[in-house]
Amino acid sequence: MDTKTVIVTGASSGLGYAIAEAYLARGHNVVGNARTAERLQAAAAKLGNPRNFVGVPGDIGLPATAKALFAQAIEHFGKADILVNNAGIFIAKRIGDYTDEDLDAIIATNLKGFFYPAREAARHMTANGGGHIVTITASLGTAPTAKVPALLPVLIKGGLNQATRALALELAGANVKVNAVAPGIIDTPLHADDAATHDFLKGLAPTGTLGTAQDVAEAVLYLTGTRFTTGTVLAVDGGATAGNW
Ligand SMILES: NC(=O)c1ccc[n+]([C@@H]2O[C@H](COP(=O)([O-])OP(=O)(O)OC[C@H]3O[C@@H](n4cnc5c(N)ncnc54)[C@H](OP(=O)(O)O)[C@@H]3O)[C@@H](O)[C@H]2O)c1
Repeated sequence: MDTKTVIVTGASSGLGYAIAEAYLARGHNVVGNARTAERLQAAAAKLGNPRNFVGVPGDIGLPATAKALFAQAIEHFGKADILVNNAGIFIAKRIGDYTDEDLDAIIATNLKGFFYPAREAARHMTANGGGHIVTITASLGTAPTAKVPALLPVLIKGGLNQATRALALELAGANVKVNAVAPGIIDTPLHADDAATHDFLKGLAPTGTLGTAQDVAEAVLYLTGTRFTTGTVLAVDGGATAGNW
């Protein structure tokens, strides 16, 4: 088997944890990041794969964290083949209620947290003859909904969808595939875990269901196994962005 080394940001919880788990289950190496060292340690213990998993705690909104992720991947496993830009926060409010701190936080984690690792990946993978970058965006970035006012996530995730296409074009000649997965509502700790919230969230997809973190992990696995797919934004959203319903 061709063992890959995969960098996953936000690997301590939700989608990032499931993505790390999916790669480890297939025998690959994972370098996982999260902001809170204790949560990352707990996730590493739960993943239970100490020879194939290296945790790198740090704020993904800082360039040093991206550099550390690639340095650790090279030190432990020789290279990095795949970057999954997953770490993100979600702040949904009406525009008048957003604070300056909300704006700074979203830009730091969701925008800089994409740019710094993507820049490292482009440098490293171009020199190495290729690789894959997958970014976890959001269905709101494709199709905003009046049911969930969330201008800042829409702004950044929509921009990341477009950046995915632009970077795919830029890196196509370097054999670096660049894609995104745009999840709808997925059952993770990002959402409050009460029945009323879940009922409301289920109503945001025509299927009337929530997705699972494994649904998203499968989409990421598919994209990083492709040879000819680049510049695509793959919806995993129960039809939420398929059209009006
Ligand atoms: N769940 C959904 O319905 C849904 C829908 C669409 C898109 N998404 C996207 O999917 C991604 C993952 O969401 P999730 O539902 O898995 O969320 P989650 O369960 O809250 O997990 C978020 C992960 O990101 C890490 N993180 C947050 N800020 C960070 C920072 N500044 N630096 C490093 N790590 C940071 C967290 O670590 P700490 O706890 O240590 O901060 C945690 O590991 C996000 O980009 C989100 O926008 C989720």
